[in-house]
Amino acid sequence: MAKNITFVQLAIAIMVLFLVSCTGGNKADQGKSGSEGKGQVSGAGGDSGSAAQGAGGGSQQVAVEVKRGNEVYIKSGCSKCHKIGDEGGSIGPDLSKVGQRRTMEEMSTLIRDPKALNPNANMPPQDISDEDLKYLVRYLAMLK
Ligand code: HEC
Repeated sequence: MAKNITFVQLAIAIMVLFLVSCTGGNKADQGKSGSEGKGQVSGAGGDSGSAAQGAGGGSQQVAVEVKRGNEVYIKSGCSKCHKIGDEGGSIGPDLSKVGQRRTMEEMSTLIRDPKALNPNANMPPQDISDEDLKYLVRYLAMLK
């Protein structure tokens, strides 16, 4: 009898320990993935990540440029009309794979002056500085 109680107590103790270590572990994981999430490029995180690897073998320089290009894309409001991945509007074409269809030269021209390439273009000309345009186009060219 006394032996049984000890066994039950032991079993409970083990369960409690198990539960405590589980929840503790989960909390740690949540904290970690939370902070990783913040570090990602928002909007097109997955795409730009794999694009950077494809083009530069994961080179730091390329990653920095892609990130800047992505920031220009976000601050210029392109996603009002364009989708990359699952995010963005659908007034303009989906840009998730625009790097397959358009050269960097074409994109540099059409972003500032869409009618230069297509007289019937509906996209409004975008007011973007030379430097921002350079990074933006590099970013878009890598979306494949
Ligand atoms: C008001 C909506 C709108 C905004 C804002 C907009 N676009 Fe567009 N975009 C379009 C439309 C519509 C087209 C399709 C061609 C046309 O009618 O001009 C297009 C076409 C394009 C194309 C060619 C796509 C292809 O498949 O050939 C690129 C690249 C592009 N836009 C990039 C951008 C970038 C970069 C920005 C932000 C700086 C931007 N667009 C902002 C509407 C927009």
